[in-house]
Amino acid sequence: MQVNIILSLLAIVSLATLSHGQFFASCPDVKVQKIEPTKFLGTWYQIAKVESFATLPERNGVCSRAVYTVSDEHPGRIALNNSQRITDPVDGKSKFVLGEAYPEDPSEPGKLTVKINTGLFTATAPLWVLSTDYSQYAMVYTCVKYFHLYRFQTPYILSRTPVLDQKVLSEVIRRYEDIGIDKNTFSYMRQKDCKYDV
Ligand SMILES: *[C@@H]1O[C@H](CO)[C@@H](O)[C@H](O)[C@H]1NC(C)=O
Repeated sequence: MQVNIILSLLAIVSLATLSHGQFFASCPDVKVQKIEPTKFLGTWYQIAKVESFATLPERNGVCSRAVYTVSDEHPGRIALNNSQRITDPVDGKSKFVLGEAYPEDPSEPGKLTVKINTGLFTATAPLWVLSTDYSQYAMVYTCVKYFHLYRFQTPYILSRTPVLDQKVLSEVIRRYEDIGIDKNTFSYMRQKDCKYDV
C-alpha cells in the first residue's frame, strides 16, 4: 500500500519534470469571451502553444489546424477536425482526430467542453475561448487540475491564416503574459510551405 503511494508520487514527480505542468498551482481565474459560436466556425491555424504532457499526442506535428463546423449528429454542437502532418509539411503523414465541442452552460458559450475520439477512448477537456476577433486571432486555453495537486495548462494561439500578423501576435502574447504565461514557453508551429488536405 505504502509502496503504491510512493510509486504514484514518483510517477507524478516525473510527469512534473517532463512537462510544463506545475505542482500545487491552481488554474488561474481567467476571463472568457462571450463568443458567438457561428462566427467562431471555420478554419483555425495553430500558430503556437505551450507544450505539456497533455499535448504529447500532438508531438512532431507540423501544419496543425482545426476546422470547426456545425455538427450533423448534434445540431447546436460544433464538430471539429484537428489535423496535422507528421514532421514534414508536404510529405508527412496526415493525421486527424474528430470531435465535438459545446458549452456546458449556454450562458457561457466561450467555455467549451471538447470531446475527442482518439480511436481508443473519448478524451474530454475544457477548451475556453479567452478572446477572439473571429477574423484574425483566437486565444484558446485549457487548464485541468488532477487530484487537486497537479496542473496541466495549455494556451494556444490560433489564426485564420497560416501567418498571424506580427502586431496581433505581440498583443496576444502580451495578454497571455497578463495571466501569468511566460512568452518564452511558447513553441511555434511550422505553417510554412504546408500542403493542407482539402
Ligand atoms: C479531417 O481533415 C483531414 C485533413 O484536412 C482530412 O483529410 C479528412 O478527410 C477530414 N475528415 C473529415 C471527416 O472531415
